[in-house]
Amino acid sequence: MLQQFWQYYKQADTQYSIHSPFVFQLLQEVLVSNKTYGDFVPLEHLRFRLQHNTTELQVTDLGAGSRVDKGQTRSIKSIAKNAVSPKWQCQFLFRLIDWLQPQNRLEIGTSLGVNTLYQYLPIRQSPLITLEGCPNIGAVAQKHFEQLKATNIKLKIGDFTDTLPQALEQLGRLDYVLIDGNHQKQPTIDYFEQCLAYSHNDTILVLDDIHWSEEMQSAWQTIKQHSKVTLTLDFFYFGLVFLRQEQKEVEHFSIIPTKYKPWKVALL
Ligand SMILES: C[S@@+](CC[C@H](N)C(=O)[O-])C[C@H]1O[C@@H](n2cnc3c(N)ncnc32)[C@H](O)[C@@H]1O
Repeated sequence: MLQQFWQYYKQADTQYSIHSPFVFQLLQEVLVSNKTYGDFVPLEHLRFRLQHNTTELQVTDLGAGSRVDKGQTRSIKSIAKNAVSPKWQCQFLFRLIDWLQPQNRLEIGTSLGVNTLYQYLPIRQSPLITLEGCPNIGAVAQKHFEQLKATNIKLKIGDFTDTLPQALEQLGRLDYVLIDGNHQKQPTIDYFEQCLAYSHNDTILVLDDIHWSEEMQSAWQTIKQHSKVTLTLDFFYFGLVFLRQEQKEVEHFSIIPTKYKPWKVALL
């Protein structure tokens, strides 16, 4: 992972090196902006409570598994610390959705539902379907959706092999997807391709953990080379994929916040 990070770091640009107006504006609105929202407060309280919850769950793991939690019994506390996306990433996705307003949203991999709520709350009137394989983890997420009155979140429990085609059929048109479960190469590519079939010019596809393993790096490379992909942004922990035909040339950027490369503040 350290070696992968170093590779990424060497080639990463800050927003000051980006010429594309769309990407520059996206970075201003979503990465550079430190705009906060009232919705962040209950969600960070929820995360805090989960990170201190010692309740043990029997876990059904249908994916690549966790690097940290190997057993079939895991505490909510440990899932909250190891599987749930961190605050900065959840808030990045909230701002992205708030800015681009994708209506029909899908999350592949719910976990405890904290990030689901971050992706749902910017647009409450439109549907968000989220998919989870473990019934016990899903039950905890469902409780959070009810507590926060997130009535347009629909949770489907089961293997993605079964639930993904159903969810796509139900949404009809896919405006946004987070692919964040079963971190193996071929399943990741398969989920991406299934989503593509329901995507359009403005769909935003987010892939989590693109440098988590060699398999995930390889999946990311395959996805970048797909003929429908016109633009990708690699933030190391996750990547964004766009299909925009306005994009004249295919471009792939690795992006890092300026504070980690402070000398890259002008068009150097
Ligand atoms: C990394 S967690 C999701 C994290 C969440 N998206 C977030 O951002 O906080 C991945 C979840 O996917 C589920 N999962 C993995 N493989 C699966 C599969 N093949 N079918 C259904 N669920 C699966 C796991 O049970 C786990 O809860």
